[in-house]
Amino acid sequence: MQSRARRPLLAGNWKMNPLAAADAVELARGVSRAAREHASQVEVALFPPFPWLLPVRGALEDTGVEVGAQDCFWERAGAFTGEVSPAMLAGWCGWVIVGHSERRTVFGETDEQVGLKAAAAMGAGLRVIVCVGEREDQFVAGQTEEVVSRQLDIALQRLSASGADRLVVAYEPVWAIGTGRNAEPALADRTMRVVRRRLERAFGTSADAVRVLYGGSVNAANVTAYVELEACDGSLVGGASMKADEFSRMIAAVAAASGSRAT
Ligand code: PGA
Repeated sequence: MQSRARRPLLAGNWKMNPLAAADAVELARGVSRAAREHASQVEVALFPPFPWLLPVRGALEDTGVEVGAQDCFWERAGAFTGEVSPAMLAGWCGWVIVGHSERRTVFGETDEQVGLKAAAAMGAGLRVIVCVGEREDQFVAGQTEEVVSRQLDIALQRLSASGADRLVVAYEPVWAIGTGRNAEPALADRTMRVVRRRLERAFGTSADAVRVLYGGSVNAANVTAYVELEACDGSLVGGASMKADEFSRMIAAVAAASGSRAT
């Protein structure tokens, strides 16, 4: 079955936390034991704020846990005050998130800009998590499929199937992020299937290599319900990824679910 070929990914988005480097290092160390123990079943990547990339990477040496940035710009270098380019990141981390809903809503990023970022990050050799998801009003209006398809198609226009194994799509309904109102697994499943169909349309059989995640109020108690879905290859986790014990339990839960899926 195709889904079993894809190793589940648990990605921890720390957002603008923690405040001190020492706390970032402690958090990274706190999850590294569980990550190492289950490394053959689950891939774990942590996304600290830019200034903590290096200390966190240092703390994770030889653990198999990867690090990534939460955003990047699309230009390579130049007069873009405050921005960080994918080419710069490539020297320090292997991953980047683009199009997170907080970037879209708080900073006004457009679908086109997210596509530019995704393409630039891919071009720099990074592995990229492209986030898509509908707002609450769009959800209520029954526009989920339309919104998610549009966001994804615009990004995919600039991407090529040859990078499919470095691409991850995270479906995160905006109304589920940080609210404790996780989307019902059946609902998430429906939209993740839409994502997979759009990927197949754009990439053909190469789309099999792309992982699709669910994100939005995922925690140790509910993660299994998502990763058991055939369309789901893991989760992008915010709040729960900042608690070492909870995130460690999530790693174990995803490992157990992936073990049972493979038999
Ligand atoms: P949450 O955040 O897990 O706190 O809902 C998810 C995200 O922002 O990616």
